[in-house]
Amino acid sequence: MEIDQRWVPSKPGTSLYIRPTVIATETFLGVHPSHSYLFYVIVGPVGAYYKEGMNPVRILASDKYVRAVKGGLGAAKTAGNYAASLYGAEEAQKAGYTQVLWLDGVEHKYLDEVGTMNIMLKIGDEVLTPPLNGAILAGITRDSVLTLLRDWGLKVSERPISIDEVIAAAQAGTLEMWGTGTAAVISPVGELGYKGERYVINGGQTGALTQKLYDTIVGIQYGTAPDPHGWASALGNRLGG
Ligand SMILES: Cc1ncc(COP(=O)(O)O)c(C=O)c1O
Repeated sequence: MEIDQRWVPSKPGTSLYIRPTVIATETFLGVHPSHSYLFYVIVGPVGAYYKEGMNPVRILASDKYVRAVKGGLGAAKTAGNYAASLYGAEEAQKAGYTQVLWLDGVEHKYLDEVGTMNIMLKIGDEVLTPPLNGAILAGITRDSVLTLLRDWGLKVSERPISIDEVIAAAQAGTLEMWGTGTAAVISPVGELGYKGERYVINGGQTGALTQKLYDTIVGIQYGTAPDPHGWASALGNRLGG
């Protein structure tokens, strides 16, 4: 860490991205688990995710492609999951969407997760997120957000959520939706595309709970908000900085 400390950017919103990686290195052409691996850690300074403020994104629920299935690799942060998502993501981007909202690989009916984020929504007074069913990543931000929401006394359910339920809530104007992930922290969703239709969510605006979650997590990261669970640890002193 000391070697890399001069790479740590200091402007608000910027950070040092740390990506532990494992690749197979056996010199063999064939299908079997490798007998040798290389573990390395990539670190790189990254700019602020929200350069022009937090704007709600548009996501496309794909009824055409699937990314992961239960019993497969969806719960692992492995390159294969991302490879399977790239073509669908490119099509979504051409259609004006930021990312794909992946539905379950069997029925194409239940929400799994977004390209690089877990998905959460609030319908009425209940917060919902898909359960860790083996097909989605157990994101650390998802876990932190669920902890905060429960601390705040909100009703939270980790259960299968059908796309029809989400669309009905969007149409009824009772839906707030956001993604959770390390890079974006909290990303408000302002529009959902599905089967050629576009559904505006919360008037295309960032919802009150979405904003509160973002402010709280960033506050904990910067030491400006209380950190009751001890998630943050200051490295400055240990690095002598
Ligand atoms: C597929 C996928 N799901 C969810 C997440 C969010 O995980 P975390 O909150 O640990 O960053 C990521 C982030 O890397 C991701 O790539």
